[in-house]
Amino acid sequence: MYNATLQQKLHELVKTHNIKDAKFVERFTANIDDIRSHFQTIYGIHPQSAILFDQLLDSICQAYVDRSDELKKRDVAKDKKGQWFLSQDLVGMSLYVDRFAGTIKQMPSKLSYLKQLGVNFLHLMPLFKSPEGESDGGYAVEDFRVVEDRLGSIEDLRAFQSTLQSEDMYLMIDIVLNHTSHHHEWAKLAKSGIKEYQDYFYMYDDRRIPDQMEETMPEIFPESSPGSFTYDEKLDKWVMTVFHHYQWDLNYTNPKVFIEMLGNVFFYANLGVDVVRIDAPAFIWKQMGTSCQNLPEAHQLLQLIKMCVEVATPGMAILGEAIVAPAQIMAYFGTGRYETHECDFAYNATQMAVQWDALATGDVRIMQNAQHELLRKPLGATWLTYTRCHDDIGLGYDDYMIEQAGFTPYDHRSYIKNYYSGAHPGSPAKGALFAVNPKTQDARLSGSLASLCGLEHALEMKDSNLIQTSIDKIILMQSMSMLVGGVPMLFYGDEAGYTNDYSYLADPGKSYDNRWMHRPIINWERNKLVDKQGSIENRVYTALQKLIKLRRSMAILADQKNIQWIPNQNNSVAGFVRFKDGEKLTCLFNFSAQPQSISWFIMEENGQRPSQVQDLWSGETLPVGMDHDHLMLGAYQFRILN
Ligand code: GLC
Repeated sequence: MYNATLQQKLHELVKTHNIKDAKFVERFTANIDDIRSHFQTIYGIHPQSAILFDQLLDSICQAYVDRSDELKKRDVAKDKKGQWFLSQDLVGMSLYVDRFAGTIKQMPSKLSYLKQLGVNFLHLMPLFKSPEGESDGGYAVEDFRVVEDRLGSIEDLRAFQSTLQSEDMYLMIDIVLNHTSHHHEWAKLAKSGIKEYQDYFYMYDDRRIPDQMEETMPEIFPESSPGSFTYDEKLDKWVMTVFHHYQWDLNYTNPKVFIEMLGNVFFYANLGVDVVRIDAPAFIWKQMGTSCQNLPEAHQLLQLIKMCVEVATPGMAILGEAIVAPAQIMAYFGTGRYETHECDFAYNATQMAVQWDALATGDVRIMQNAQHELLRKPLGATWLTYTRCHDDIGLGYDDYMIEQAGFTPYDHRSYIKNYYSGAHPGSPAKGALFAVNPKTQDARLSGSLASLCGLEHALEMKDSNLIQTSIDKIILMQSMSMLVGGVPMLFYGDEAGYTNDYSYLADPGKSYDNRWMHRPIINWERNKLVDKQGSIENRVYTALQKLIKLRRSMAILADQKNIQWIPNQNNSVAGFVRFKDGEKLTCLFNFSAQPQSISWFIMEENGQRPSQVQDLWSGETLPVGMDHDHLMLGAYQFRILN
């Protein structure tokens, strides 16, 4: 659309900021009308809307001007690759700087370990100033632009980013968009009685509105922070705190909040961040009578951010950390004409959860039943695939997916929770229930990859067969994340088979949150064992290393929406075909503790049936049999057939 007044405004701005880049002007011209209409839809009725819109446009130009020449060059290089983040070359790891290396300055000394593994994309868990004891692992931010003292400084972060860049590695950090710590400057000013800053948050004089809103708002941390509002004595008001009582929800009905937070997004972009992880985007818009999640305005705000980023700092991709139901997740990639213009990445939390489901039951039908939703992901956007992260595991897939597999949802979920929390007799998994809601009996799960796969138990039993089985399970889970489409994100410690760490129980700032059991402190003496042949660390690490090498070498694994699931033949074996230019890769996964067979008919899927295949994982060459012949898979074995 063309709007003469807007275009004139744009040219004046470009002139004032002395911007000479025709590409920038092109991107701005293409987006300005949509930026205006989104801003107008949400903030049009605000009395200062016109002035604030001008401020928004100005901030876009300023962000571009502030971007270093080096980053601008990197933008151009990424642009040439098309959607650079779809590549099979990317393999990530999420880590806490302090628990992994100590400080930001110490990170470069660990890069060879990561590079040797094949990781080239780092998600540094929140680094910004956050009050000790009320930090939520850094997700309660006191200052969005000051690095936590014990981790280093903003200069250290800049220096590390440029090291990563020179090593051809990518960086992701979080922007915690939904809330701030109650120690953030805005919260302090609000507490001191300044109305302008009270309007940055949601606060009420009495319980009338909070009571009504809580009727429809699910509780996120029902054990440690029940309800969604917290009484602040100093203010004598009820403040909205959806997460912990010390995390105050920002009020995005106030355009000033949006503009300030967009400024922080640009600040991170200009630090050289390749992917910004928008924390908890599902929650950023609240409305009485709703769950206050996934609302249309939340999507409009995300699209608005995306468009502004596309214009000013185009090389930075956006990951939306929306851990929502399968039917809701697709909207985070944008809908209608905004498809692929919202978040570039979303966590494939459903796939992660159904993998855990299959591992507990040995039955892959729920996983298969979830795929029709997941396959709706548009071409041009991608998943972040994972087995574990710093958070809990929610069994967020739909009841009908469970019912279609012949199970009763309530009983089935109870079984999975008991299996992983160790309450089920005979289960080798050692995890714990997280956020148990006494009213609904809902619960999620904590535990490290290794402990949930039975390694902790096997070590206690000193049983080498059980140890081997748990390693097989770990690698099975990881192999799926590497092959299913999207960018795999490992969680630090998992590459060396770290089991649960219970030391958090002695720290009052952490003991109320059992997610800390799976956030280990790396012991580098122990990690040296990754090079000691036959050690557990070595067996896990080298298997992952091999998987990553395979992944990065095969263009067929880039996410070009090139996946087709194989119809069910055996309830324990999941399979899909990745395809590209007439070639195919058939991936099969046995989630059962017993050997399983599958008819060679699977080779009819998607294209020619070859006379023989090579299993790229085991190295075997296998003649392809007739339909009545069977291919065997051992317990927890997977095959990558080429
Ligand atoms: C996200 C983070 C989680 C945090 C929450 C509140 O879900 O991943 O760790 O507790 O947001 O910020």
